Amino acid sequence: MTHALGIDIGGTGIKGAVVDTATGELVSERKKIATPKSGKPGAIVNVVVDLIDQLGGIPASMPVGVCFPAIVRNGVTMSAANISDDWIGLEAEKLFETALGRDIHFVNDADAAGVAEVRYGAAKGVPGLVLLTTLGTGIGSALIYDGTLVPNSELGHLQIGGRDAEKGASFAAKERRRLSWSAWAKRLQRYYSHVELLFSPDLILVGGGVSKSHEKFLPLLKLNAPIIPAELRNNAGILGAAALAVKE
Ligand code: BGC
Repeated sequence: MTHALGIDIGGTGIKGAVVDTATGELVSERKKIATPKSGKPGAIVNVVVDLIDQLGGIPASMPVGVCFPAIVRNGVTMSAANISDDWIGLEAEKLFETALGRDIHFVNDADAAGVAEVRYGAAKGVPGLVLLTTLGTGIGSALIYDGTLVPNSELGHLQIGGRDAEKGASFAAKERRRLSWSAWAKRLQRYYSHVELLFSPDLILVGGGVSKSHEKFLPLLKLNAPIIPAELRNNAGILGAAALAVKE
């Protein structure tokens, strides 16, 4: 039984809990603090330090995983679609390690959620290529082949109709334009058909807060692969970040 701390940094909230990485269960309280308005690195690091204090009793030996909405290569954040530009080119993993005085594992948020669904959720035991997408402020994506993550797929930034797919098809775009479910589903159809043409996944999972209303839009989509709601909801990032922090 390995316990690890998972922290999920999002545009509105920063959440954390201790996870039993064998079972995918939360074994502590789940704490959440609002994301500082500036979205700047220093302010976010301070919140993460507070959050760990609030959780209390996290031993120095416990692995810590942190997920974040940007491309993460070798601990460096390489993009900032919906967060402060100060993250671009930042040694984020090191920044957190210095502030927390311990090693951490830093990973893209959708990649963490995808790993969680494959290990503990809707794609558990599914062989082949699993694609998880998260529909929120942006569109996040994770590609996992036979349990191995291909990181930073960033399929929310595919160009569809001459612009970033997430600008037209994210849940935020639906809200912004007050699209009906069926009008939004048309945009999603175009998006997922394109993704399917490129990758031919065996299973497509749809996460993000709106996935709880999946019956309103998933049945409207016609794809070759099954497209189903993710299961782990708000905990997916925490679970995946914790799981990835444990070195096998
Ligand atoms: C970012 C991704 C992130 C996704 C979901 C996109 O705008 O580029 O890195 O995974 O939003 O948060």
